[in-house]
Amino acid sequence: MKKKLQVLSISLALTSAASILHAEGNINAGKQKATSCAGCHGEDGNSMVATFPKLAHQHSSYLQQQLHAFKDGTRSDPMMSAIAMTLADEDIQDISAYYAAQKVSENSLPVSVADEDEKPAGTNDAVQSLITQGSNLYRNGNLQSAVSACIACHGPFGEGNKPASFPALKSQHADYLIKALTDFKSGARSNNPENIMHMIAKKMSDQEIKAVSYRISMMK
Ligand code: HEC
Ligand code: HEC
Repeated sequence: MKKKLQVLSISLALTSAASILHAEGNINAGKQKATSCAGCHGEDGNSMVATFPKLAHQHSSYLQQQLHAFKDGTRSDPMMSAIAMTLADEDIQDISAYYAAQKVSENSLPVSVADEDEKPAGTNDAVQSLITQGSNLYRNGNLQSAVSACIACHGPFGEGNKPASFPALKSQHADYLIKALTDFKSGARSNNPENIMHMIAKKMSDQEIKAVSYRISMMK
């Protein structure tokens, strides 16, 4: 109960901060401006490459935050940092509004290379069992290692929380989710002032990261 209240007070604090910071942009202008992003993120924000995140249906407040973070260097990536430098604040607002208005595509069941080697084609017991583990972690967290339940902030369907700028996760590529959680765990990604995700991911095992990423990638 005490934990739940703590999470709630963090959420409320972020809600008020985030809604002051982010203005909504122009979707049509954003569509034009996003043509330079399409090569990696897909024309409608549904990228084909699993390490390039899908941006479709993501909350505009979160997209704006991340683009500003790439631009000011608090989040860094060899591809994104240079690109974000070229964007004016208005471009960031418009592009974010455009992607937020798109529909996210569904993923097919993840196939891990190790599973492919071990099992004849068509069997996916190992993947299914990881998804079950991931589902449990997402809903309940891990009491023993004090990993918070993801559901508290990212919602029962992975829809996130727009006013608080908690990102939507549903139907994101599993490979990108694994990379993001591993970067939070190591501290390579820590642009959020409260460092919430680092505090959570550092307690997660690599197996838990994979399991929960597989689960989230299948949420619709
Ligand atoms: C050359 C490929 C490439 C291009 C072009 C590109 N991106 Fe990215 N983008 C990436 C990669 C790779 C990442 C993931 C970085 C990481 O792993 O932290 C990313 C991450 C992002 C994120 C963070 C998403 C999240 O869920 O946190 C946003 C927002 C974003 N890009 C917006 C854009 C916009 C807007 C443009 C065009 C102006 C653009 N990108 C062009 C490769 C690209
Ligand atoms: C207390 C709220 C909270 C909880 C609980 C929480 N998250 Fe997050 N999550 C956030 C916030 C805030 C961000 C944005 C971080 C940033 O801006 O750097 C985030 C970002 C993420 C991202 C990056 C998304 C992207 O598009 O790059 C992933 C993946 C993620 N969380 C997964 C999880 C998982 C898995 C769990 C459960 C084990 C979890 N989160 C629990 C608040 C939370």
